[in-house]
Amino acid sequence: MVLGRIGLALAVVAGFSAVNGQAAAAPNHQTLAATPPMGWNPYNAFGLNYGQDDVLASADALVKLGLRDDGYRYVNIDDGWWLKRGPKGMRIRTNLYAIAKLPGGGASMRPFVDHLHAMGLKAGIYTDIGYNTCSQRWDKTTPNLPVGTRAEREVGSMDHQAIDVRDFSRWGFDFVKVDACGIADFGPDAPDVKNGTYRQMGPIMLRERPGASDLARVEGLYASFEREIRKARPGHPLVFSICAWGEADVNNWAPRFSQMWRTSGDINASWASMLHNFDSAASRSLFAGPGHWNDPDMLEVGNGAFDANHLTEARAHMSLWAVIAAPLILGLDLRKATPEILAVIRNKDVIAVNQDPAGHQGVIIARQGDGEIIAKPLAISGHKAVAMINRGDQPLHLSVSLAELNLMADGAQIRDLWHGSQGVLRDGVVSVDLAPHETALLRIEGRLAQPALRSPADMPARFHVTQVGYLPPDRTTKEQWVPARIGFLPSGAPITRGDGLETAAIGASAGSHLVVDLGGQFRTLRFTPGVKAGYGVKLDGKALAPHAGADGSVTLSLAGARRLELIAPPRTAGADTFIWHDLRFERAVN
Ligand code: GAL
Repeated sequence: MVLGRIGLALAVVAGFSAVNGQAAAAPNHQTLAATPPMGWNPYNAFGLNYGQDDVLASADALVKLGLRDDGYRYVNIDDGWWLKRGPKGMRIRTNLYAIAKLPGGGASMRPFVDHLHAMGLKAGIYTDIGYNTCSQRWDKTTPNLPVGTRAEREVGSMDHQAIDVRDFSRWGFDFVKVDACGIADFGPDAPDVKNGTYRQMGPIMLRERPGASDLARVEGLYASFEREIRKARPGHPLVFSICAWGEADVNNWAPRFSQMWRTSGDINASWASMLHNFDSAASRSLFAGPGHWNDPDMLEVGNGAFDANHLTEARAHMSLWAVIAAPLILGLDLRKATPEILAVIRNKDVIAVNQDPAGHQGVIIARQGDGEIIAKPLAISGHKAVAMINRGDQPLHLSVSLAELNLMADGAQIRDLWHGSQGVLRDGVVSVDLAPHETALLRIEGRLAQPALRSPADMPARFHVTQVGYLPPDRTTKEQWVPARIGFLPSGAPITRGDGLETAAIGASAGSHLVVDLGGQFRTLRFTPGVKAGYGVKLDGKALAPHAGADGSVTLSLAGARRLELIAPPRTAGADTFIWHDLRFERAVN
């Protein structure tokens, strides 16, 4: 245990020596957020117009409705909790939370946190990485804005990371969400900066334009925040949730030192917004795993297009977050939740898919028109969760063969996790008829077709992108360039084989490094390099000199090795990307 912690500390320190996603540091494995965090946050239901009573009533509801025992444990307060930065740099509570209402309340949030802990819940708090906050820029009519002089109103963590994180830790919080408006929205053109209400900050993070942002500075600010988290309460750090909306290439560096990071802008309760946010995370299955999760934002189940009149959409939304191992942070007013909506968020089989201990994010294995199929390998070998998604407005028939899931054609059990029925399996093919916007979430319990062989799609959580390599300077946040993807090039273009995706292939940026945790469990690796020369392979840090056979494939012995590194040729070799085709890992033990 102690040794593990030292190992982690060294790995994270190594990460600080380089910036802009280029650090060859180990990823952030730990028991903190070993499965995706589950809980509740008021923002989607109330915006900033809520108070302590709403939060405590929601906490009560989590307990009384049984949601706490389903796993929804975090009660995370959002923007608006602050009154002002006090004389000694400490934060004072606002009337919003009226902490004084709780016995012992005052300048401390401790009574509030103690109250939640006594209920068997966990507590989350919120800050901004800049001087000022999102509400100060975008929600000027909320009654919960900070007050006082300009300096007192600077409630963000800039220049105060150590003192703020110490307060959050002393108060007993378990989770902190760190937003980014302070470094994005207080540039010289912001009206309230022009009139002197707020100090100008940068901007150092330009929305939609990572190539024009000060990436090293943004990463450095979040990295130092995490250092303070570890310093403040050694051995019991807060879960660190980065809310930089997929900007500043956050997806490429956050996995090294945070437990979850937003991959897109704010969700709203519409079908298009839900799909947009889902896509921003679904493309990044190689970046997630135990202790580090892609976060497509909090759930809208129960709200707008996902309310009790739209149960098909509500189930689809829940299925999609479950299959990509996204944090499940509820965003509805629990006091108004109908039994039908509660049945959606409390479906134990669906939660079990999300919380599966192997921590694999589901991988896109097929796209057919409005249809999309995502498969998530589960901890038990041969068991998979499969989401069959109809994104469109027309009914759709979708099918997937067990062979595409690397499973034996016979003997598989298939269960539809929403309707409890058996899925239709004929001649080794699973088929579903989907209504518009319907997702079928299936649990397939079968046997691996070749018991010793694993492709990347069978074990995405073993992969870590330790160097992102080439990034196009004109990339935008909307059309994300993903430095390593299963079945796709970084640009999003599919890598096809026959009329499907090649799911044993990884499309990678030139010069990228992928690390695979082998854990001493594999015997050989076979792959076919996209071009014959220029790539590199290291085993436990030692460079190998791979030779291709007559068919162009390379076979390497992995015997006993713990760490494999796959290094794409540098861009100077002529191409922006490189494909690792037909990656097949042969296990030494099953
Ligand atoms: C946004 C953030 C939301 C919410 C809001 C509060 O930047 O993405 O999740 O926290 O600020 O003002």
